[in-house]
Amino acid sequence: ARADIVVKVNGAEMRSPADPATPLLHVLRNDFGLNGPKYGCGLGECGACMVLVDGKAARSCVLPVGATAGHAVTTLEGLGTVDAAHPVQRAFIEEQGAQCGYCLNGMILRTVALLAVNPHPSDRDIREALRFNLCRCGTHVEILASVHRAVV
Ligand code: FES
Repeated sequence: ARADIVVKVNGAEMRSPADPATPLLHVLRNDFGLNGPKYGCGLGECGACMVLVDGKAARSCVLPVGATAGHAVTTLEGLGTVDAAHPVQRAFIEEQGAQCGYCLNGMILRTVALLAVNPHPSDRDIREALRFNLCRCGTHVEILASVHRAVV
């Protein structure tokens, strides 16, 4: 039998019997019960499934779980809790940067990745960073305000 795949998620080593070609998103949600990353398009186009891999934003629906060996995966669950929200999560709550909320996982993780490399992004930097994260409710004004609030 094939050995389990070991994935380092949110600081813990987790094991999955999945085939290495399985999209990371499915392993996170189905095997590990981490429902922060969402299934949107499944084609790498909407950003709902976003995670951080070694701090960089990645689309987990098109990332084979086998490719994460030796890397650190962070999901929304790894950022903060309800009682101790991450500053970016807090900013999105305060600015109500969501309507249905389906894109929120990707918006927040993409913002965390942006601020890690660009702590004081301009409006243009933020639009550029979030341009491949789709929000179908049209909440873009509040999302921009949320990112700006996270900066200060
Ligand atoms: Fe992965 Fe849309 S679900 S990019």
